[in-house]
Amino acid sequence: MEIWIVESKQELSIISAKFVAHTVRQKPNAVLGLATGSTPLGMYKELIQLHQEHSLDFSRVTTFNLDEYVGLSSNHPQSYYSYMYNHFFQHVNILSENIHIPRGDAPDPEWECKMYEVAITEEGQIDLQILGIGSNGHIGFNEPGSSPESVTRVVHLAESTIKANARFFTSIELVPCQSITMGMKTILINAKRILLLASGEEKAEAVKRMILGNLTPQLPASFLRTHPNVTVILDIEAAKQLRDVNKIPLSIVYM
Ligand code: F6R
Repeated sequence: MEIWIVESKQELSIISAKFVAHTVRQKPNAVLGLATGSTPLGMYKELIQLHQEHSLDFSRVTTFNLDEYVGLSSNHPQSYYSYMYNHFFQHVNILSENIHIPRGDAPDPEWECKMYEVAITEEGQIDLQILGIGSNGHIGFNEPGSSPESVTRVVHLAESTIKANARFFTSIELVPCQSITMGMKTILINAKRILLLASGEEKAEAVKRMILGNLTPQLPASFLRTHPNVTVILDIEAAKQLRDVNKIPLSIVYM
């Protein structure tokens, strides 16, 4: 696990976008695993700029999103499909047939999960998987208790996740309590390279436990340490609890 600590969220956005751009330039038909939430918003903005001003080409790129709320149709304003469309897809030249997001309103969500898992496996590999981290250590919607063997499935959201995501809804009652998420195994087995982004002090504890704590389903992100190619980009606030980290044999780069 390589850890980069940057001065600000803006820097985190710029560097992570360069990371994605590098992947796409090296391999124009790259497969990207994408995340939603507030952390990667700046990265998507930078990528749009790279597309518009530096002709970064997404025409052969394929994407798989990590998750979607159960019960929300793709055109619901708070669906992750709408998020991706509004903040990224509509501004770049990605082909709609290359975009994959679980269908939150699928008539049979369990079947949808199976088919999503098959689609990822058939793709061969995800060249670069972008992840955020919940303050409870979730990745995707793999909440505490998630097994490293878990695959794409319907999960119940943790109370803390529902509270954290209520900011995107007009009231907490409207936050769906279930979602479809890629599993831990789906991420760990299929991603060739993983880029995890964390910003803000509210992530500092989870980040510390991810890097220095036990490997445990209680902090699903800790299992990223079993993956051979993970880069973590933290802003100063998210890295706040890593003060003693120099004592640990980790590859840390202060940008
Ligand atoms: C989003 C996702 C979640 C978020 C995490 C952090 O697709 O899978 O794991 O990455 O909840 O969210 P933010 O960035 O809003 O703090």
